[in-house]
Amino acid sequence: MDKLASPLGGTGKGSGTPGDGPGGPWMVVARLPGLAALHEEALAGMLARLTATDPEGPDHPMRVGRVAAMLAAEFGLDGGQCDLLARAATLHDVGKLAMPADVFGHRHVLDPAARREMERHTLLGAALLAHATAPWIRLGALIALTHHERWDGSGYPDGLSGEEIPLAARLVAVADVYDALRSERPYKGAQDHDEAMRRILEGDDRIRPGQFDPAVLAALQRRAPDIALLPR
Ligand SMILES: [Fe+2]
Ligand SMILES: [Fe+2]
Repeated sequence: MDKLASPLGGTGKGSGTPGDGPGGPWMVVARLPGLAALHEEALAGMLARLTATDPEGPDHPMRVGRVAAMLAAEFGLDGGQCDLLARAATLHDVGKLAMPADVFGHRHVLDPAARREMERHTLLGAALLAHATAPWIRLGALIALTHHERWDGSGYPDGLSGEEIPLAARLVAVADVYDALRSERPYKGAQDHDEAMRRILEGDDRIRPGQFDPAVLAALQRRAPDIALLPR
């Protein structure tokens, strides 16, 4: 997990322990001993609820994990580490469960205020998972916190850049955007594999290639033939 969680010692700046202010989600979770001893069974139930109601669709978390693991193999990670990442990546959006109903489960493009609210799913997800001891959930907490950070520093919640961002999050970021492009949403159609690749590598009105780790993009191109064949 060390390579996936690099840089060692956390995310380097900004949030530290996520949401640890007086009214932050970390403090809320810390006061709830039941959540502090979160069981994997409970987590599975939460994920089921998330995937049942999230407009990204029920299989999105699993597909993101699968693509992220394929990319991780290109970085020399062994099978065990790739499997760990595949599982941990399914937790990337678990913080959406703590979102207000009109933000979580949205069926339209969010306005700026709702988008800022939605961005808190990173902190909430990390706080929710923070006390877990299972390695895959601990890695999931790190991914939940950092999967919207961007290589060029334009992401959230901490504006990390480059290798300040854990490798696991750099891999999940590309896998997440790829799967989102391939998926039909209430407010947009699905792209085929070639168009999704083109938008990631060349950019569009919402995506800039500079937001991704160039080494992860190179891995995406190498594994593109396999990724194109994944069942949907
Ligand atoms: Fe997310
Ligand atoms: Fe996602």
